[in-house]
Amino acid sequence: MAALDPKRYDINILENGGTVREFIDKKIDELSLADCSEPFHVADLDDVYKKHLTWSENLPRVTPFYAVKCNTTPAVIRTLSALGTGFDCASKAEIELVLSLGATPDRIIYAHTTKPEAHIKYARARGVHMMTFDNQDELTKIARCHPSAKLVLRITVDDSSSLRRLNLKFGARPAAAGGLLRRAGELGLDVVGVSFHVGCMCSDSRAYRRAIADARHVFNTMGFQMSLLDIGGGFPGSDNFPLKFEEIAECINVALDEFFPPDCGVQIIAEPGRYFMETAFTLAVNVFAKTVTMEDAAEHNEGDPDIVMMYYVNDGLYGSLRFFINHPEFGERRYRSVIWGPTCDSMDRLTDSCLLPELQVGEWLLMDATGAYTLSVSSNFNGFERATVFSVVTPETWRALSGVKNVVCLCIKHYKKKKKKKKNSYKFFFKFCQKFQ
Ligand SMILES: Cc1ncc(COP(=O)(O)O)c(C=O)c1O
Repeated sequence: MAALDPKRYDINILENGGTVREFIDKKIDELSLADCSEPFHVADLDDVYKKHLTWSENLPRVTPFYAVKCNTTPAVIRTLSALGTGFDCASKAEIELVLSLGATPDRIIYAHTTKPEAHIKYARARGVHMMTFDNQDELTKIARCHPSAKLVLRITVDDSSSLRRLNLKFGARPAAAGGLLRRAGELGLDVVGVSFHVGCMCSDSRAYRRAIADARHVFNTMGFQMSLLDIGGGFPGSDNFPLKFEEIAECINVALDEFFPPDCGVQIIAEPGRYFMETAFTLAVNVFAKTVTMEDAAEHNEGDPDIVMMYYVNDGLYGSLRFFINHPEFGERRYRSVIWGPTCDSMDRLTDSCLLPELQVGEWLLMDATGAYTLSVSSNFNGFERATVFSVVTPETWRALSGVKNVVCLCIKHYKKKKKKKKNSYKFFFKFCQKFQ
């Protein structure tokens, strides 16, 4: 297992034009030599860097506060911190993590509307002042634990066009805003702004426009000038999603110019999670078992039974792969196949029947776009270890990152490009599930 000791690696530099795919192949070779087949992720920091550039180009007025819950890999947090993003933290542990990786307290928003008292006290002790609320009891708690907090009122907005809706659980109805602000005033608390979240994987850019208009309405009814608008998350992480990031950005820019023009004195932030992480990660899993079955003839339309391959791979629903369906692309002969995760739970199934070439035990599968809400929700159910992460970056991007403050590299391994040779690994193309499984 020494080959997978995460302490040995933090960031690997791809030298001489080496690619992420070559790095993965080399890692598979190394593991095979060490008689190890544990699953692993590769985090491509260039992808995170490019996403940041795209964000800055398309949403120049909006400062991203990365939603740490999406993926807590230290190298990506260091990268984002170096690029100057803020962080949306939802707990004491997340605050502790980002502070330990170079973030400063003024670039953190504690964006959870219902917080344990101990976590609020921790935020205060570490100088984190900005936090959200949506109810009177939270205000009472904050007045007790962090009276100098800078409060952001989270309002409910229309999230009906999002795959994961959040507004049933969080947010005050805009109509309740006046009462909450009066209560905050009585308690001597400082409310500095308004936030919302249109829900994850939002498929209608007009949801942002409506929410920004709703936020403007709350600003207007406040009776005092607030200084912060937080437009939340919900941005797609890949081009496979039907609604493109650029389209959302265009809609947001128009709405901001209309409702919060540049000279209005309001700072605009957002809390993107999936946007930054989805495509940055590739997961390598090993096929450790295989069963060949005959489909029941009665279930088959033509009455002609068919071979069905069942593969068991060493990461699954309880590990990194909770939210995925796959779309493999292969040229060779294909068989109807089902891929299962490693645990004893029959829910731990990664694909419905799909067409794959025949795989052998010991071969590896590579799964793209596994960065969002995978590692952060994984468990070691049944004693299967969580996948290790190796982070890679090109020298050009590393230089660009090193040119900005705050980058701390624990240990850099130089990975040299080597001659290509045939690999027993297949590339899968994953896209997001239309619903959460
Ligand atoms: C408060 C808050 N902010 C931001 C996010 C990140 O959302 P997304 O990954 O859709 O950008 C979430 C996700 O649950 C959230 O609850």
